[in-house]
Amino acid sequence: MRIAVTGSIATDHLMTFPGSFGEQLIAEQLDRVSLSFLVDDLQIRRGGCAANIAFGMGCLGLRPVLVGAVGNDFADYRSWLERHGVDCDSVHVSETRHTARFLCTTDEHHNQIASFYTGAMAEARLIELKPVADRLGGLDLVLISPNDPDAMLRHTDECRQRGIPFAADISQQLARMEDGQIRQLVDGAAYLFSNDYEKGLIEQKTGWSDEEILSRVGVRITTLGPKGAVIDRAGEPSIQVAPSPERGKADPTGVGDAFRAGFLSALAWGLSLERCGQVGNLTATHVLERVGGQEYELGQAAFLERFAAAYGADAAAEVGAHVRCHHP
Ligand SMILES: Nc1ncnc2c1ncn2[C@@H]1O[C@H](COP(=O)(O)OP(=O)(O)OP(=O)(O)O)[C@@H](O)[C@H]1O
Ligand SMILES: [Mg+2]
Repeated sequence: MRIAVTGSIATDHLMTFPGSFGEQLIAEQLDRVSLSFLVDDLQIRRGGCAANIAFGMGCLGLRPVLVGAVGNDFADYRSWLERHGVDCDSVHVSETRHTARFLCTTDEHHNQIASFYTGAMAEARLIELKPVADRLGGLDLVLISPNDPDAMLRHTDECRQRGIPFAADISQQLARMEDGQIRQLVDGAAYLFSNDYEKGLIEQKTGWSDEEILSRVGVRITTLGPKGAVIDRAGEPSIQVAPSPERGKADPTGVGDAFRAGFLSALAWGLSLERCGQVGNLTATHVLERVGGQEYELGQAAFLERFAAAYGADAAAEVGAHVRCHHP
C-alpha cells in the first residue's frame, strides 16, 4: 500500500527562563516593551505533524512518502528522516523561506511566550500530488494532516478529482478553518481521525450529526487519550480499542501523530481495524513516555512483547508477521 503523508514539517525550539515574565513587565511601559530573557536551556526537537507520522511509520518498517514544504535548512532533518525509512523525495524545498519553526520560552511559573513562524509551509499549497503518484506508480491513500490551510484544501480536492482515497486529520487546524472548509475536508474521506474533543468540534462546525458524518466517511477513528480509541463505521457496531498501558508520562506532544502512524502502518499490512487501533495505541505510548515527538526507538522484540502483554499472543503474532522495527 503506497501511502503519502501530507502536512506540516517543523522544528520546535524550546527555552526555559529561570525567572518570572510578570516581574519583567512594567505596567506603565507596556507601549514600548523591549525585553530580552537570558535563558538557561535550549532544546531543539524535530516535529511537524506529517514528519512525526511518517517517522513513526518508518520506525515500524514502512516506507511512507512525506509530502510538505521546507526551507533549505532541511538537510539534517532530511537525513534523520531518511535514516528512519521515510521517502523525502517529494518534499518541496523553498528557495526563500526557512522551515516552519515554533519558538517558545517558558518561565519558572510555566507561563509561555511563543511564536510560530510558518515560513516555507505556506508553499505547501503549491504542491501537486500527481507527480508524487506518477513517481510511485500510483497512490493508495493520502493522509491530509495539519498544514497550510490552502494546502489541505488543495490536496483534498486533488484526491477527489483523481479518485485517490484520502484520510482527513484536521486536528489543530480546526480552530482556524471556516465551517465550509471543514465540510470540504471531511466529506468523502476514507478515514477521519480526531480526538474526542475535536469530534464534537467537527460536528459543531460542519453542522452534521454523528450519524451524518459516519454516512459521509468510510471509517471514523476517535482517540480517547488514556481510554484508547473507538472506531466507527455506518451500520456497524463500534470497535472499542483498549489503551496500551503506559510506563510513565513525560510529555503528550505528538501522541496523536504516533497513533496515526501505528494505525496507518497496520492498515498497510492489511490487518483488521481493531489491530490498527491497537498498533496505534502502542506506538502512541512510546511518544508519551519521552519528551518530543520523534525521540523514541522501537525494538522489534520489545515492541511485540509489549503488544502481546496488552492485546494477547494471537494478536501479536498477526502484527509480528509484518512489523519490521529498525532495532532488534
Ligand atoms: N495516559 C495514556 N495512557 C495510554 N495511552 C495514552 C494515554 N494518553 C494518550 N494515549 C494514547 O495516545 C492516543 C492519542 O491520544 P489523544 O486522544 O490524547 O490525542 P491528541 O489529543 O490528538 O494528542 P496530541 O494532539 O497532543 O498529539 C490515544 O488514542 C492513546 O492510544
Ligand atoms: Mg491531536
